[in-house]
Amino acid sequence: MLSCASEWLSQELMDVCRLFEGADALEIVHTSMAGNSRFAGVFCIDGEQFPYSYADTARTATEEKSLVKRYSKLALYNILSEKFHKKLPWGSLTGIRPTRLAYASLEKTGEFENFFRTLGVSEENIALTARVLEGQRGIYERKEGNCDLFVSLPFCPTKCVYCSFITAPIAATRKFMPAYLSALERELKAAKPLYKNLRSVYIGGGTPFVLEAEELERVFEAIAPLRENGCEYTVEAGRPDVFTEEKLDLCKKYGVTRICINAQSFSDRTLAAIGRKHSADDVVKAFEMARPYGFDINCDLIAGLTGETLEEFENSVDTAIGLSPENITVHTLCLKKGAKLKEETETLSEGGMSAMIAYSREKLSAAGYAPYYLYRQKYMAGAHENVGWTKPNKACIYNVDVMEEIADNLAVGANAISKRVFFSEGRIERLASPKDLATYLSKLETIIEEKNKLFGAASE
Ligand SMILES: C[S@@+](CC[C@H](N)C(=O)[O-])C[C@H]1O[C@@H](n2cnc3c(N)ncnc32)[C@H](O)[C@@H]1O
Ligand code: SF4
Repeated sequence: MLSCASEWLSQELMDVCRLFEGADALEIVHTSMAGNSRFAGVFCIDGEQFPYSYADTARTATEEKSLVKRYSKLALYNILSEKFHKKLPWGSLTGIRPTRLAYASLEKTGEFENFFRTLGVSEENIALTARVLEGQRGIYERKEGNCDLFVSLPFCPTKCVYCSFITAPIAATRKFMPAYLSALERELKAAKPLYKNLRSVYIGGGTPFVLEAEELERVFEAIAPLRENGCEYTVEAGRPDVFTEEKLDLCKKYGVTRICINAQSFSDRTLAAIGRKHSADDVVKAFEMARPYGFDINCDLIAGLTGETLEEFENSVDTAIGLSPENITVHTLCLKKGAKLKEETETLSEGGMSAMIAYSREKLSAAGYAPYYLYRQKYMAGAHENVGWTKPNKACIYNVDVMEEIADNLAVGANAISKRVFFSEGRIERLASPKDLATYLSKLETIIEEKNKLFGAASE
């Protein structure tokens, strides 16, 4: 039980509690006092008082709110860390984008390392963050008018048990396909005047390659007039069980530059357990099929999949490296609503997770990969992170722009979330399309109108 004066702060403090197993059983009461260049307060935990006080100054009301949040979370983290004898890799940071905080600190004070240290971030993660910032050099660009295009294809061969993405097995959703493709064509046509500088296109999902070749071609055709500048073009092709030469030919024909062949794991035992319906060997075959086309290839792995041993994960990392994709993304299992696997999170050992993460960092670095984007999610096993690794000069612009929120994101399709970045006002406006396919289709005209309004001034 946690009680605190404001609902928004209460949510933030709950995020800290969730980092410590058993903290939900504590009776926590928080009182905060801000003023006179101090951020102070008291936590009363099961009747015991823990006062705290940090010196800092806020220049605006927004900054004051952010500092109240920062210091109360830090104080609670320190108290719980001592109580449960546990330090967490990201300390009191529970946000999704630690790198954004690092950039903000760099801008304000010229450094982020000591700031992160104060927040309890481990030395390893401070070093990792520094490497990510370094990896974004030459790509990271905060500039009004920069835009990325996302095309959502929320269809999959079958639903993997861990996955909480809004996507459904194609057998159940195929009936929507003709109307869905027409809706995408309509949205893409309307989107053409809405941006100035297109930096990248990303067709994601779902599993875009689950579409039939002629369906995929309609999507490529509709995108082509928007991508006249030949910018980076990713197709999250996805699972190897839907790869065909015909679909790869189409990718080549329409100028795709990057595809994903996602293994998640190279253990057949794990793949069967998570409902992937393909083998590790299928991943290798998909690589062999795709290599002659010359696309940059990304391969997704997940650490902490149910029942997977450290040795199996190590083998997955080694096998992925052996296939030599340009990008390897190492996710940490994250179970939220929508995933069938939810119950099993608790069984993961934190020590095991940390060893997996440490192994991936060491091996990928030794193989010449550098981390270039990083994000976290709530409910991640062991409070870790997802990291995108890249070979030199192969970093994906789309991932950097999206994770750092430094460009507009014009997103089309069901469950697409568009974002407009207002740099001068320091704010981001979001617009989410309905997740449900039928609702999305029925609201199409309103969605287009709203998007026109959000991006209307972008091209002026
Ligand atoms: C939208 S999915 C698309 C990938 C493609 N459909 C596939 O499965 O190969 C993007 C990636 O998110 C990761 N992912 C999905 N669910 C996850 C979860 N619960 N925890 C961690 N990573 C997850 C997977 O690595 C997946 O490849
Ligand atoms: S992991 Fe990929 S294939 Fe599996 S359900 Fe999620 S989006 Fe679909």
